[in-house]
Amino acid sequence: MIRLLDATEPITPEQLKGFFVGWPAPPTPETHLRLLQQSDAVVLAVDDATQQVVGFITAISDGVLSAYIPLLEVLPAWQGQGIGRQLVERMLARLASLYMVDLLCDAELQPFYATLGMRPAAGMMVRNYAKQRGE
Ligand SMILES: CC(C)(COP(=O)(O)OP(=O)(O)OC[C@H]1O[C@@H](n2cnc3c(N)ncnc32)[C@H](O)[C@@H]1OP(=O)(O)O)[C@@H](O)C(=O)NCCC(=O)NCCS
Repeated sequence: MIRLLDATEPITPEQLKGFFVGWPAPPTPETHLRLLQQSDAVVLAVDDATQQVVGFITAISDGVLSAYIPLLEVLPAWQGQGIGRQLVERMLARLASLYMVDLLCDAELQPFYATLGMRPAAGMMVRNYAKQRGE
């Protein structure tokens, strides 16, 4: 059974293994926990059997008009079971009082977000790869 959590309080770094798949310089579980704690909103998917976090989504917000969703990931072994959809749905519900909610994604994922009520837009970004580990 997967349960969704809206807070990081009971979570330890040991429960945050295996994320940032494909990142050349991934954050450590300790850094992952720190970024979760410092986000304005977070939803975690936790496996009841092992207490491992198997998916997460974060948002940062001004609390007035806007929010940005920087990170969404489901562990590979748990993908394709609706967990990503539940995480996005729950986060969008939590941000529903705001005017604008933005995220950047690859074009191949636009249909996924479209089924969740989002629409395509153009975007721009900066990536400072020397800082990818978040230390
Ligand atoms: C994107 C992601 C969070 C989806 O999580 P998930 O739990 O597998 O999602 P769900 O089971 O709710 O929905 C699966 C749907 O996601 C979409 N999807 C996932 N990855 C996709 C990809 N690479 N290309 C196209 N569609 C994709 C499909 O529409 C899929 O539908 P299907 O199961 O009918 O094929 C997950 O694939 C992931 O963690 N990917 C790596 C990190 C990432 O890309 N994060 C998004 C950053 S914007």
